[in-house]
Amino acid sequence: MSLKTLILAAGQGTRMKSELPKVLHQLGPFSLLEHVFWLSKELKSESISIVYGHGGEQTKETLSHLEAEWVLQAQQLGTGHAVMQVETKFDDQDRVLILYGDVPLLKKQTITNLLEASETTDLALLTVKLDNPFGYGRIVRDGDGKIIKIVEQKDAAQEELEIDEVNTGILVANGSKLKDWLNSLDNNNAQQEYYLTDIIEMAVKDGVEVKSCHPQVESEVLGVNNRSQLAYLERIYQEQKAEELMEQGVTFKDPGRFDLRGELVSIGKDVVIDINLVVEGKCKIGNRVTIGPNVILKDAEIADDVQILANSMIESSVVGQSTRVGPYARLRPGTELAENVHIGNFVETKKTTVAKGSKINHLSYIGDCEIGTGVNVGAGTITCNYDGVNKFKTVIEDGAFIGSDTQLVAPVIVTKNTTVGAGSTITKNTAEDSLVLSRSKQITVKGWKRPVKKG
Ligand code: UD1
Ligand code: CA
Repeated sequence: MSLKTLILAAGQGTRMKSELPKVLHQLGPFSLLEHVFWLSKELKSESISIVYGHGGEQTKETLSHLEAEWVLQAQQLGTGHAVMQVETKFDDQDRVLILYGDVPLLKKQTITNLLEASETTDLALLTVKLDNPFGYGRIVRDGDGKIIKIVEQKDAAQEELEIDEVNTGILVANGSKLKDWLNSLDNNNAQQEYYLTDIIEMAVKDGVEVKSCHPQVESEVLGVNNRSQLAYLERIYQEQKAEELMEQGVTFKDPGRFDLRGELVSIGKDVVIDINLVVEGKCKIGNRVTIGPNVILKDAEIADDVQILANSMIESSVVGQSTRVGPYARLRPGTELAENVHIGNFVETKKTTVAKGSKINHLSYIGDCEIGTGVNVGAGTITCNYDGVNKFKTVIEDGAFIGSDTQLVAPVIVTKNTTVGAGSTITKNTAEDSLVLSRSKQITVKGWKRPVKKG
């Protein structure tokens, strides 16, 4: 008895008013459909089939990395019709789990409970009570509380509309029974659709006890039909992620202002995160790291005791222990900072390694550069690394001191303990332990009068 999962994702999503198929819209790090797919994967489904719609080729192409069987439903004739398209994807003895591609926040525990309920019967439904059940199929029970059928909003009688328990659409059925029931479906209803929900009445007729389970929280079964619902679920997702991190020992100044759009592969203890942190790609954060407001981390590796000050961006870079970055710093790909380095405001680095204890504190561009230990790079230093065609390297050796407003025209080496005078343009390798400067001499014009306005 193996588990086969079917994900229904052929709906048009017209209310999104988008050129992008609905299930490709992003929620946190993944598209809606990927959320559902990864859950199916976690449940150890033997196969995952995705029903996609006409014009949904883009969905299949964009998500071609998912190990799934893609089945086209050229015309959307209803949820029952969608499942008919994948009838060949499951066998009689299988347990079939049906999920919706636009319901992204389902929890593994909830489906595990539903699967457990399905062990002793041939049909189990996930249902939920809603304050406002409008639009949903209603769960109709008999006097003993047994489920007898589902009626859709558009087909419901007045007293059925009063029912607040609704169908989430998510269910588990026995393969052989499901095939029988699908064969008997018709579209004799208000929407002239093949309703998957009609199988419930058939099951009851067959003497099957229809069991039900409920999600832990309502948001698990909420679907996305428009941008407002997408934004609502995005916030819930982000708050859940912040909650998980707080359980691991992370402090948030405001967990409502955090955005995980990638993966936090690891995060240490006693990390303090101020407002508006955005995490992209795969990031690692060590112990006791403090992150100021408005920081973006993308594929960043941050060691213990690092301080990242406000408004800094760190991308594809490594930041060593006890190093301080920002405020307003931009570490571009290939930056590697060792321990106790200081990178200050309005400093941009790219493909640059900075060894222990060195400082670039103000207003600099440092690209394609190798900096030794104990180096001080003054304000306004620029590595001229690009001649319009090729990139060249700058090396600044241990103990060098670069005066403010210096241009280092690469390829060039500033040797050990060299002092470069402020305002210099360095085009040749320097000599160790010396002072170099290239600067026009200061002149004085005595008694000079500034022009005055006439009249
Ligand atoms: C369906 C249920 C309803 C339930 C509600 C929960 C039926 C008849 N009704 O209603 O009881 O309360 O979901 O949200 O099942 N889809 C296809 N192909 C189709 C039609 C739909 O793949 O031909 C997919 C959609 O992409 C979506 C899911 O099935 O992921 C549900 O479709 P939707 O049109 O939203 O169903 P409802 O009519 O709202
Ligand atoms: Ca719907």
